[in-house]
Amino acid sequence: MVDFHSHIVFNVDDGSSDIAMSKNMILNAIDEGTKCICASSHYIPIEFEQSKEEFFEKVDDLRQIFSEKIDIVPALEVYLTPDLIELYEAGKIWCINEKKYMLIELPMSEFPMYTEDVFYELRLKGITPIIAHPERNIKIAENINLLKNLIEQGVLAQMNSGSILGFYGKRVKEVAETLIQMNLIHVLGSDAHNDGKRNTNIKTAFNRINEINPDLYEWIIENQFSIINGDDVEVLPIKKIKKAGFLARMFKR
Ligand SMILES: [Fe+2]
Repeated sequence: MVDFHSHIVFNVDDGSSDIAMSKNMILNAIDEGTKCICASSHYIPIEFEQSKEEFFEKVDDLRQIFSEKIDIVPALEVYLTPDLIELYEAGKIWCINEKKYMLIELPMSEFPMYTEDVFYELRLKGITPIIAHPERNIKIAENINLLKNLIEQGVLAQMNSGSILGFYGKRVKEVAETLIQMNLIHVLGSDAHNDGKRNTNIKTAFNRINEINPDLYEWIIENQFSIINGDDVEVLPIKKIKKAGFLARMFKR
């Protein structure tokens, strides 16, 4: 298993507060059977900007401590703004493992008009966006076609383990299940912030994906390390599902 989203780096954002907590979070991941963690701390202009040197040093320290048991790769959870190309070229933001996939977070309650344009520009530069936890975005939850269109254009999506388990409420759980059924998710992440309630657990959610959509589970197992290594992946075709009741409302025209 690979955890594509976690705030295990200490004292750089609202995630781990110190090295002891980071170690606990990583030990928990090892216990779960996770083989690789993306250290994806927040990059939010003004609020959480990361110094590349300091960030990579901390990732490297953690990686060396646990090198025999788990791999840890540098990443970021980049907040979507219109100037991502400039930030990338200035070395202020970077991709997962410094390869070609970039974890990008949309504002929770908005789907900015420039989303498609920024993603298009990134793809022209050879960068594939991975949308962080789309199931938690209010606009996508109301209209899954917003996500479907982006996936059709070559964007990938990361789901939070807690979403499938109901930690963010019933509605997010329902959206998460729908996205899994439709093959609209490509990687899983814990979005861990501490060694308490928001820890690095992904195993139960991973098994839940297998119950809901075994083909997708197999696909994730086969492709997760290709994504870490920056190799191209061929996604599963998007599946149509029967829409009834509240689900029908999730597909606006
Ligand atoms: Fe996060």
